[in-house]
Amino acid sequence: MIDIKEKIAEILAGQLDSLLNDAEGSLSMDEIKSMIEIPQDKANGDYAFPCFKLARTLRKAPPLIAKDIAAGIEEEALFEKVEQVNAYVNMFVSKEELSGITLDAALDPDFGKSDEGEGKTVIVEYSSPNIAKPFHIGHIRTTIIGDSIYRLYDELGYKVVRLNHLGDYGTQFGKMIVAYKKWGNADELEKDPIKYLLYLYTKFHKEAENDPSLDDQAREAFVKLEAGEEEEVRLWKWFSDLSLKEFNRVYDMLGISFDEYDGESFYSDKMQRFIDELHDKGLMHESRGANVVDLEDYGLGTALITKSDGSTLYCTRDIATAVYRKEHYDFYKNIYVVATQQNLYFKQLKMILKLLGYEWEEDCIHVPFGMVSLENGQILSTRGGNVVFLEDVLNNAIDKTREIIREKNPDATEEHVNEIAKEVGIGAVKFQELSNNRIKDYTFTWDKVLNFDGETGPYVQYTHARCASVLRKAGDDVVAKAQNINALDMSYISGENAYELVKLIYAFPEVIRDAAYKYEPSIVTRHIIDIAQSYNRFYHDEHILVDNEDEKLAKVALTIAAKNVIKTGLGLLGIAAPDRM
Ligand code: ARG
Repeated sequence: MIDIKEKIAEILAGQLDSLLNDAEGSLSMDEIKSMIEIPQDKANGDYAFPCFKLARTLRKAPPLIAKDIAAGIEEEALFEKVEQVNAYVNMFVSKEELSGITLDAALDPDFGKSDEGEGKTVIVEYSSPNIAKPFHIGHIRTTIIGDSIYRLYDELGYKVVRLNHLGDYGTQFGKMIVAYKKWGNADELEKDPIKYLLYLYTKFHKEAENDPSLDDQAREAFVKLEAGEEEEVRLWKWFSDLSLKEFNRVYDMLGISFDEYDGESFYSDKMQRFIDELHDKGLMHESRGANVVDLEDYGLGTALITKSDGSTLYCTRDIATAVYRKEHYDFYKNIYVVATQQNLYFKQLKMILKLLGYEWEEDCIHVPFGMVSLENGQILSTRGGNVVFLEDVLNNAIDKTREIIREKNPDATEEHVNEIAKEVGIGAVKFQELSNNRIKDYTFTWDKVLNFDGETGPYVQYTHARCASVLRKAGDDVVAKAQNINALDMSYISGENAYELVKLIYAFPEVIRDAAYKYEPSIVTRHIIDIAQSYNRFYHDEHILVDNEDEKLAKVALTIAAKNVIKTGLGLLGIAAPDRM
């Protein structure tokens, strides 16, 4: 798409050339572009150019310079009006020009895609649940935010590798193994693996309160596991496989997938090199039998590398993981979508990598997010056994949506209702998840999630279906004709609502970049809410399928563009855009 700022910079550069007459102190295109402002108050134009910097070179007062420039560019077709106000050149972009530029680009379903990331590999690590633990509502955040970040980078042409860094290693497996050996039953385990493993885990903790020797046995079991003892490995593998099967069921429901599931255990044989390196570089010292890296000088406490029994830790595995990723993928960015609780931890990890001399640690990005709680105050911890399974939440969303859809479409077939209920129910949960700034804590509220009129997923999906319905009514012929930008008369989309919508559509590619580079999908969410609201105002206030053929074509074209953007936007959030609801 034509970049209007760029085009204005070109126009200004041409004008400056003639004013400066090759004088010293001329400005480069980039300088000019960076000087162009977008005024807060629309009365000062869509874009403004301040002339202070030119005063010395031109030996003239800035307002006089602004006046000369304004006079020199006012005939440009891009502008409806150009004004000098004090030291500023205020430019009002022609509505027809902007509409033309925007529709020309947005009639293409690929509008928003770019290749700016070509040749660069970005790793997005997300979800990463712990094996043998419930996949609960608390996991929803990393899973959905991470998936959207993957989609954003993919849209910008990066090669994205989606990693699920499964928590499939650590002392908790020692506990699980001991608990299973003492109290376990294979049939029960196969029947409902996670719930049963959770039961065993909870029982372990209860029993260990009275019998501390259980903790020692668990430590021993984990050391055996690390040493590759057959029985321990067999049980661990069994728990892992059963858990993964359950996780995959939820990922399927969510339409989320990964390129690799290399969890912590994958790195179990890749750590020694770094333990040695930390030792050789004098970065690690012994403390009560354990090995630690002292990071007090950086205000980051100490990091445990090996325990007194020799077993490794989460951090040890993460060091090996980061280096493996660099060596294996040569990443441009290595993104970790993990809760704010681990802020300090990731600072420690990055500092250790830095001390080891890995300069690329700067490209390791921790993307934190706040907590989710439930409206009835249910807690999300695994210890107490009182957990809300994500799968149950998703099924609940689908059930509730089914009722609403059936009510709205009494004639729809059962099959249609089921399909839409799934797309809308899951979409609603994702949308809510991606609505707020990720760093904020939020409360999961059913009323908010499923409201068809609020700033929700169903509302945006409904608007998409409305666009589709307008296009169906317009008919294939008209829709085909409206795709031809040269056949469109932009003067018909200059009404306030239509033009507001055009401006939002124009901004979309920049919104995608902004969201990707800030790791903030909610920027897309908010923008498509704005677009949906804007389209609905346009739909209610103006007639689209009017008798006048030219007017109809222009408005149908705007509808196609709005539909494309909403669909792409929902897609970037991992949400379906049904044509009928
Ligand atoms: N499994 C961990 C947890 O549930 C999250 C893993 C985060 N990723 C990492 N590379 N440390 O807390």
